[in-house]
Amino acid sequence: MDNFRFCSPTYFAFGKGTENDAGELVKKFGGTKVLIVYGGGSVVRSGLLDRVENSLAAAGLEYTSKGGVKPNPLSDFVYETLDDLKSGKISFDFLLAVGGGSTIDTAKAIAAGAVYDGDFWDFYEGKWIEKALPVGTVLTIAAAGSEGSGDSVITKVEGMLKRGASGDGIRPKFSILNPELTQTLPPYQTACGMTDIIAHLYERYLTNTKDVEVTDRLIEALIMTIVHEAPRVMADPNNYEARANIMWAGTVAHTNVAGSGRSQDWNSHNIEHELSALYGCAHGAGLAVVMPAVFTYCMEHDVTRFAQIAVRVWGCKMDFYHPEVTAKQGIEALRNFLISIGMPSKISDFGGKKEDIPVLVDKLVNGGGRNGSISGFVTLDAKACSEIYELMF
Ligand code: NZQ
Ligand code: ZN
Repeated sequence: MDNFRFCSPTYFAFGKGTENDAGELVKKFGGTKVLIVYGGGSVVRSGLLDRVENSLAAAGLEYTSKGGVKPNPLSDFVYETLDDLKSGKISFDFLLAVGGGSTIDTAKAIAAGAVYDGDFWDFYEGKWIEKALPVGTVLTIAAAGSEGSGDSVITKVEGMLKRGASGDGIRPKFSILNPELTQTLPPYQTACGMTDIIAHLYERYLTNTKDVEVTDRLIEALIMTIVHEAPRVMADPNNYEARANIMWAGTVAHTNVAGSGRSQDWNSHNIEHELSALYGCAHGAGLAVVMPAVFTYCMEHDVTRFAQIAVRVWGCKMDFYHPEVTAKQGIEALRNFLISIGMPSKISDFGGKKEDIPVLVDKLVNGGGRNGSISGFVTLDAKACSEIYELMF
């Protein structure tokens, strides 16, 4: 196991009705003037925004609410809010995101930019986020894990570059997790969320660090939880217990507790981010297509690792003479599971075209300060990335 530092300071309030504690929690973490950030309106329609605003008012807090964050969130919302803050049009000392990963990531970007003199995009080109205004979240979809992570993903409008930023400064102070809030999700979004959670686990499983049994086992348990709960929640979207297990698995999957002490992959995420930036597909839907292609391409790098997950998670029988057969069966089992919950299996399912491959590859390996390749479990140059995109048709 590698040396590591791990700090997951987020205070989690989990369960029914916890959104009504938003005011108390903002106060607990020092907020006095709150900017509530939300998305395209699902929280208005469900009445959640009203409940959160009432909770803040009851706690005697000032607040302003600003909606309109789009899925795969764009930099213009962040720039506009920061301009309004710096010109004195609005003022706030606490960000409260009410929504999914896109809303939370936008709140984190504003929080980091609010205490930084330069362009907030510097963070998305690699600058570590040490300081930010405090952020709280009320989560409405189990997916991105942003409610417990030190990460934020934004797409810059010029060039449509989708990039991540990281730092302890943007880990949420608190996150409210009420599984009931996810019951209004369309089945497709529920499935996209579960796919993203599985991807966060696979990206940590694919490691070059030896002897990481504790985190291997944590990851396997979390993936098996999603595989167990998926058919239950797809059959009955109001199944509270299934929603609860999925929600907590999604948060734990991305706090990095299961990734500590081991090198990680993230090639699938980087390859996917170009798809959601270009085609506007849901991040999870993109990952459903990307993962089997990347894993097939990279399998030979460590056949034993792929065979291990095939046996332990997918119940495949170990072929000791031909471990590559077992490894392939595991990748096939993952693909079939994703198809069973309604995820796409080909890039063309969301508009991908072969002639776009050079553009996708160029942005992937050269855009935003990258130097001709991406690196994780294996290093992938332009030729490798091009071959991986070909596998998705
Ligand atoms: O915008 P509204 O109207 O709220 O609708 C959203 C949106 O259309 C809807 N939705 C969310 N909760 C709902 C609901 N509809 C009905 N009922 C509810 N309870 O779902 C749609 C998707 O929302 P979004 O926030 O985009 O989903 P998700 O949580 O999957 O976030 C995706 C974004 O997170 C990034 C992705 O790249 C993508 O941009 N990621 C962020 C990470 C992080 N910060 O740690 C890690 C991830 O790997 C990921 O890259
Ligand atoms: Zn993800």
